[in-house]
Amino acid sequence: MIGPLNHVAIVVPDLDAAARLYRCELGAQVSDKVELPEHGVTTVFVHLANTKIELLHPLGQDSPVRRFLDRNPDGGVHHLCYEVEDIGESSRRLEQMGMRVLGNGKPRIGAHGKPVLFLHPKDTLGVLIELEQV
Ligand code: CO
Repeated sequence: MIGPLNHVAIVVPDLDAAARLYRCELGAQVSDKVELPEHGVTTVFVHLANTKIELLHPLGQDSPVRRFLDRNPDGGVHHLCYEVEDIGESSRRLEQMGMRVLGNGKPRIGAHGKPVLFLHPKDTLGVLIELEQV
């Protein structure tokens, strides 16, 4: 069902320092900072040949990644995102198999303007998984 790895998201305590690390020390192509207030994050995209890394930092008080950063003050891997062709079908199939979709169980529009859903990490080996319809 899942297709390519779309991105790995890393929550970081200092977005400028993280962007510098990827741009200078690691020599990757790195975007400018993008604020996504409706998602509660500021993000920097690292473009690799086969996937992307998203560096995330909380934006606003209700940020979904603030608690993660409180628990992981040095930063850490937050989620993996796999591409799917039909997110409605994926969601129905996963729920039939007893997997928990976070939120109200319905896909919503994610940070890239495409429908996404998140699976409960207790059902997925302790790693938060995002599915994105591409
Ligand atoms: Co993501």
